[in-house]
Amino acid sequence: MSLPTDKNLSALLDERRTFPPSEEFKKQANWNDPAIYERAAKDPEGFWAAQAKSLDWFTPWERVLEWNAPWAKWFVGGKLNVTDNCVDRHVRNGRRNKAAIIWEGEPGDTRVLTFGMLEREVNRFANALKGLGVVKGDRVAIYMGMVPELAIAMLACAKIGAAHSVVFGGFSAEALRERINDAKAKVLITCDGAWRRGTVVALKSAVDEALKGTPTIENVVVVQRIGKAAQISMEPLRDHWWHELVAGASAECAPEHMDAEDMLFILYTSGTTGKPKGVVHTTAGYLLGASTTHRYVFDIKEDDVYWCTADIGWVTGHSYIVYGPLANGTTTVMYEGTPDFPDRGRFWEIIDKYGVNIFYTAPTAIRTFMRWGEDWPAKYKLSSLRLIGTVGEPINPEAWMWYHENIGHKRCPIVDTWWQTETGGIMISPLPGITATKPGSATRPLPGIAAEVVDLEGKPVGPGGGGYLVLTKPWPSMLRTVYGDPERYVQNYWSRYPGIYFTGDGCKMDEDGYLWLLGRVDDVMNVSGHRISTYEVESALVDHVSVAEAAVIGKTHEIKGQGISAFVTLKEGIAATDALKDELKNHVAMKIGSIAKPDDIFFSAELPKTRSAKIMRRLLRDIAEGRVLGDTTTLADPTVVAKLKDQYKDEG
Ligand code: WTA
Repeated sequence: MSLPTDKNLSALLDERRTFPPSEEFKKQANWNDPAIYERAAKDPEGFWAAQAKSLDWFTPWERVLEWNAPWAKWFVGGKLNVTDNCVDRHVRNGRRNKAAIIWEGEPGDTRVLTFGMLEREVNRFANALKGLGVVKGDRVAIYMGMVPELAIAMLACAKIGAAHSVVFGGFSAEALRERINDAKAKVLITCDGAWRRGTVVALKSAVDEALKGTPTIENVVVVQRIGKAAQISMEPLRDHWWHELVAGASAECAPEHMDAEDMLFILYTSGTTGKPKGVVHTTAGYLLGASTTHRYVFDIKEDDVYWCTADIGWVTGHSYIVYGPLANGTTTVMYEGTPDFPDRGRFWEIIDKYGVNIFYTAPTAIRTFMRWGEDWPAKYKLSSLRLIGTVGEPINPEAWMWYHENIGHKRCPIVDTWWQTETGGIMISPLPGITATKPGSATRPLPGIAAEVVDLEGKPVGPGGGGYLVLTKPWPSMLRTVYGDPERYVQNYWSRYPGIYFTGDGCKMDEDGYLWLLGRVDDVMNVSGHRISTYEVESALVDHVSVAEAAVIGKTHEIKGQGISAFVTLKEGIAATDALKDELKNHVAMKIGSIAKPDDIFFSAELPKTRSAKIMRRLLRDIAEGRVLGDTTTLADPTVVAKLKDQYKDEG
């Protein structure tokens, strides 16, 4: 691991411009008092305790925080229920007939669920789960497309105290199986299929394949989204139709009184080894983090229509489609499809159709829209937008400016929000009405959050320095452990600097103390805002019969942020053909999912290794990006990279 250099920053900082907070927001923002930062810094626990009063508790907490680094307990002794907070209390408090979820299907079909309707649907399904023997503390796996039943299933689990583990619908059968087994899930909820660009994603067949090796799954619930065209088979006794289960179920279900620290969900994310980590989030702290940040970063008002374009299979969808907005009683839009189907105006059409006020998307999407041209958004009325945001990767100033001009029409503040699956909610972001923005910078930590940029020894670098981003104090929505592997939790996040959370991100602090995220410093790639570990892809490659060895790197990609390049050494006697390249790409897609498919594969007789046989990915990155080769003195055989470089130039 090397420290980020100033070299890769100059491009960002050259374009530095400052946009002051808008006058409109200075007056009306939910948080418009700059002193909030100092107040929170002086007494973080008092600050979070005050925020926690916005939640409904069955039993109040006794202590705000118990911190035995790296083990945290927040709101000790408190009891509450997440679904009671996200749904039931709004029905009690006058929002029964307010839209909770506005759902838009890919083919253009729509469904609106009010809080009252959502409560009943959640209760019916919660009772159906109970009927299948699910009890408090069980794990339920969810592998679905973006249909309302996905949110309903999550809320039903939370209502009865079962932890959900949502697995992104784009993952392969094998990836699903691995996650089910790690969590020892009892029930799996899926769909007969999902619509994607007019074709059917065969979720149920992937489930059938995955379930050949999942001893803990007793029952499968299948949502009928596609119907006949899905052509699925139902396994008698094991598989049940969702609509049949809920038909006879009661619409009343009392919420389980959960301890503040009871597990709410597991979400798997890529780390630096092959096995994905089951990030564990708990009840009170997570809900507080998701709801507080949602309310203040997006400056949510009662009548807002809010849309986050993520898939619920990732943490962004958990926190900012489901839990954050619903806890705040906000109308949340959920869209099933992609931005380019039936045409490239689809997102703007949705904003126009529902009068969306707050729009939250990823830099990859913005760069794609840029390439498609400003004529697409110009066809639609976007004047309802009040604030726009980005998440998932660093946004380049050029894309920021395009977003500002063509979507925000120069009047909407942009919130560039930095956070991770592990942090549960947004950690670094401007606050509308308070923070001046700079294109490309996530600005500063939110009130109640303590972040620093440190050097190798852990010393803060101060303004003008570059290093690693760390979080120096616990926060309510932090992960509590890695499911079934507390060692890994300690090792991964807390061992580099004891008592301090290591984010794995490089960061630069400018002269004004603003933070500029520089991407991962470990072996994790960020492809279109999705985390994939180099090791996972390498394992999938060497799993193929023809492959002897593989090294995978994230290579700068104009649209996706990073693309995946694989350097592969074939076994003796195997011919290096283009057909084999395609076969290997498909093999990776089959093992992990198509998001992990390498963009290019490069065959090479040898890979650059240190004398201790460690592959030097840094040099492969230099080669792939056409840079001057870095230090090669530690290589076992320095001629390997020179040869590789020439060969790459010719073929690449
Ligand atoms: C990256 C997604 C720069 C970062 C919410 C982090 C960002 C990883 C930003 C987490 C941002 C996320 N600017 N980089 N605004 N937001 N990242 O767990 O490298 O899927 O460590 O969570 O995405 O990815 P994850």
